[in-house]
Amino acid sequence: MSVKRIYNFNPGPGTLPLEVLEEAQGEFLNFRDSGMSIIEISHRAKEYADVHAQAKADIKELMGLGDDYEVLFIQGGASMQFDMIALNFAVADRPGYYAVSGSFAEKAYLEAEKLGIGKVAASTKEEKFVRVPTQEELKIGKDAAYLHVCYNNTIYGTEYHYIPETGGVPLIADMSSDMLSRPLDFSKFDFIYAGVQKNLGPAGVVLVVAKKSLLAESPAKLPTMLRYDTFYKKDSLYNTPPVFSIYMVGKVAAWLKKQGGLKAMAERNAKKAALVYAAIDNSGGFYRGHAQKDSRSLMNVTFRLPNEELEKKFVEEAKAVGLGGVKGHRSVGGMRASIYNAMPYEGCAALAEFMEKFAKDNG
Ligand SMILES: Cc1ncc(COP(=O)(O)O)c(C=O)c1O
Repeated sequence: MSVKRIYNFNPGPGTLPLEVLEEAQGEFLNFRDSGMSIIEISHRAKEYADVHAQAKADIKELMGLGDDYEVLFIQGGASMQFDMIALNFAVADRPGYYAVSGSFAEKAYLEAEKLGIGKVAASTKEEKFVRVPTQEELKIGKDAAYLHVCYNNTIYGTEYHYIPETGGVPLIADMSSDMLSRPLDFSKFDFIYAGVQKNLGPAGVVLVVAKKSLLAESPAKLPTMLRYDTFYKKDSLYNTPPVFSIYMVGKVAAWLKKQGGLKAMAERNAKKAALVYAAIDNSGGFYRGHAQKDSRSLMNVTFRLPNEELEKKFVEEAKAVGLGGVKGHRSVGGMRASIYNAMPYEGCAALAEFMEKFAKDNG
C-alpha cells in the first residue's frame, strides 16, 4: 500500500478498516456494473435496496437478534435521538429516567428535562464522571417510561461492564462509541442507538436497533420526521436516506462478520486496550488514568500527564511518529486514545511503546 496512513486515534469521526475504504474506493465509479456510483443511484433502485437490506440483516445477525427487533437508519446524529426518544416515549406523568454518567448522558437528560419529562436515576457528575453508576445506585421510579444509559462515555473513557436490571422498565442505550465492539445479550435492551461515525462508518446516519413493539406507534401529534413509526413503517425510506453512510455501515458490518463477529472483535479489543492501560499502570505515576479501573472503557482510553506542557509535547511528538488524534477532550484535558474496532493491534502496540519511551525521556 503506497498511500501514507497514520494510526488514527481520533474519537469520531474515527478510524475505519482500511480494507473497507479500499473496497469502497475500488467500486466507487461503477457500483455493481450500474455505471454509476452508489451516491448517484436512486434510493428506490434495486442496487441500493440490496445494500439497505443486507446492512440491516448483517447487523441483526452480528447482534444475535431475532424478528422482534428492527433496524432503522435515521439522520440528525445521536443528538437528535436525545429528542426523539423523549418525545416518542415519555410524558409528564411517565418520565424518562436517566443515568447521568458523562457529557452525552447529561445532554440526553437535559433534552427530556427541558420538556418536563426527564428525571435523574443516578449521577456520577460530582466525581467528575470517573465511573458509571452501579446497579444499586440506579433509582428507577415506578412511573418510569424508560431508563436511558450511555453505555460508553466517549469523553471520559468509561463504560458499563454490566447490563442494568430495570425490573421491566424499557432499557434504552446510547452505544455511539461502543456499538458492535463486543457481544452482549442485546435482547436485554429494548432500544439501542449509535451515531455511526465512531465505530461503524462515516457521519450522517444513526443506527437504531429496537424492539418493534416500541416503534410501531408514536404519539398522535408528533411531526412526521420525529416519529419512530414513520421510519419503522417505511423501512427507513420515507424520505431519501443517507445512502453513502448506510452503504459504508453495511461494508463495516460485513467486515466484522469476516473478522469472526463480535466475540472475535471483543477479544482483540481487550488485548489492544490492555496494552495501553498497562502503559499507564506501569509508568510509576507518570500517566494518570481518568477512569476508575472497574469502569475503564475498551474504546476510549483517557489519561493525564504530570503537566500541561508535557501534554502538549506528547501530542506533538506522537503526531510526528504517526500517532494522530491523541489529544483529549477539553472537559477532561490530557490524552484520549480512541481504539475502535478498526484500530489494529499494531497501532496500540506502537502507542504503548511511544508512551513508555516518552515517560522515560520526560519523567
Ligand atoms: C456517546 C455519544 N453520544 C452522543 C454523541 C453525539 O453524537 P452526534 O454528534 O452524532 O450527535 C456522541 C458524539 O461524540 C457520543 O460520543
